[in-house]
Amino acid sequence: MDPDDFRRHGHALVEWIADYFEHVEDYPVLARVAPGDITAALPRTAPEDGEPFAAIMADFQRVLVPGLTHWNHPGFLAYFDSCGSPPGVLAEFLCAALNQQAMLWRTSPAATELEGVALGWLRQLIGLPPDFEGVIYDTASVSTMHALLAAREAAVRDVRVRGLAGRSDLPKLCVYCSEQAHSSVDKSLMAIGLGQESLRKIPVDAEYRMNATALADTVSADRAAGFWPIAVVATVGTTSTTSIDPVPAIADICSRERIWLHVDAAYAGVAAMLPSHADILAGADRADSLVVNPHKWLFTPVDLSVLYCRRMDSLRAAFALTPEYILSGDQADAARRNLMNTGIQLGRRFRSLKLWMVLRSFGAKAIRAHLAEHIRLAQLFASWVDAHRDFERLAPVPLSVVCFRWNPFVTGDERWSKAETDAANERLLDRVNATGEVFLSHTQLREGVALRLAIGHAQTTERHVRRAWDLLVDHAAILR
Ligand SMILES: Cc1ncc(COP(=O)(O)O)c(C=O)c1O
Repeated sequence: MDPDDFRRHGHALVEWIADYFEHVEDYPVLARVAPGDITAALPRTAPEDGEPFAAIMADFQRVLVPGLTHWNHPGFLAYFDSCGSPPGVLAEFLCAALNQQAMLWRTSPAATELEGVALGWLRQLIGLPPDFEGVIYDTASVSTMHALLAAREAAVRDVRVRGLAGRSDLPKLCVYCSEQAHSSVDKSLMAIGLGQESLRKIPVDAEYRMNATALADTVSADRAAGFWPIAVVATVGTTSTTSIDPVPAIADICSRERIWLHVDAAYAGVAAMLPSHADILAGADRADSLVVNPHKWLFTPVDLSVLYCRRMDSLRAAFALTPEYILSGDQADAARRNLMNTGIQLGRRFRSLKLWMVLRSFGAKAIRAHLAEHIRLAQLFASWVDAHRDFERLAPVPLSVVCFRWNPFVTGDERWSKAETDAANERLLDRVNATGEVFLSHTQLREGVALRLAIGHAQTTERHVRRAWDLLVDHAAILR
């Protein structure tokens, strides 16, 4: 592609993206293809001869666009929305164009230093103290894995050399999280050689928050049994209900027991930007590490997760390893800044560019306004659920997620059995999602299947939330 062709196709592509943003509501939120459709529509082998870009774009439009689930649709109310934004998209464009590979300071001084600057801004915005140093990874799963690797390193100093396997000098290492913690904690333990058996799932209270007394008791029992507690993962904004673990009480236990405290604030951490929610990270200043995902609720396109750590030296001790072919004269000077030393990966993208552009383009005020509006909309939706005799709310709504279900009186004052109610809610969810206007997801709570409405998109307004509610009520009436 020569520079003129690049200009032509680039301009056309920007037009396509702008139209897409403008008309995203014309698409069904949830893709309507069947498994295998996309594969079947594409050649089995790569072309021998290069093809015109226009032909490639035509296939993109014809084959791939129908296979997109539109996370950019304001009716996307499932999971935690990963809401991108136009400034974030432009930054990704530049990031690909510049193709920086910031393994060493000198392989990209700009990417290395901007990461520090942008993460310093975000740290201040969410009210973490300056002794937290940040590093960017792709996802919260990877951030948490690195936090637990640092905890493992801090506990077992020679682990990077001797590993864990076959060691008779070490007791079993244990990690703690609540029953509501994200599955990435399980996966981290699988990855770092501790195994899921080493993960203690602490019970939660009636509002799905970790029971700190049960945590303290489990740690004591483990110590008495000869195990070695090395880390606790507390969650601020759990995946199902957005419940908030009692971090101050958990931090007391961790400091008393000398256990690494990692806070998973992947979704909810950014809410600390709001004066009304500033205390959401209370106690997190005493954590050893914390993860927050700008690609969840900070209008930054996937992927960008931030790990803040007060003991970055443990993370560097776990990972600093400089092969001879990378050594250079400026090594000593730049050693602390070489991002390759803060994780498993050598190469790293210029991800900070999109966070920096998003923060500058929105400004903190507009970000706060969006977050506050999402929380208001969730409260509003919850009030509709509460006021309807055939629906019920299944968890508190501290942030922008509502868990609820349809639980109608079938005859007189009789309701369905649990199995019937679960099945009815699954049918209702399928029907509403099939409209293509909105997409909600579900979870399992004490009562059974819970429908889950999550607001996180910058373009989602009261109209979209109202429409979701109307669809639920209308389809429930038909299904009954
Ligand atoms: C609380 C929490 N932590 C971690 C994750 C994992 O996020 P990622 O997809 O960035 O790995 C999620 C995903 O939704 C989450 O809800």
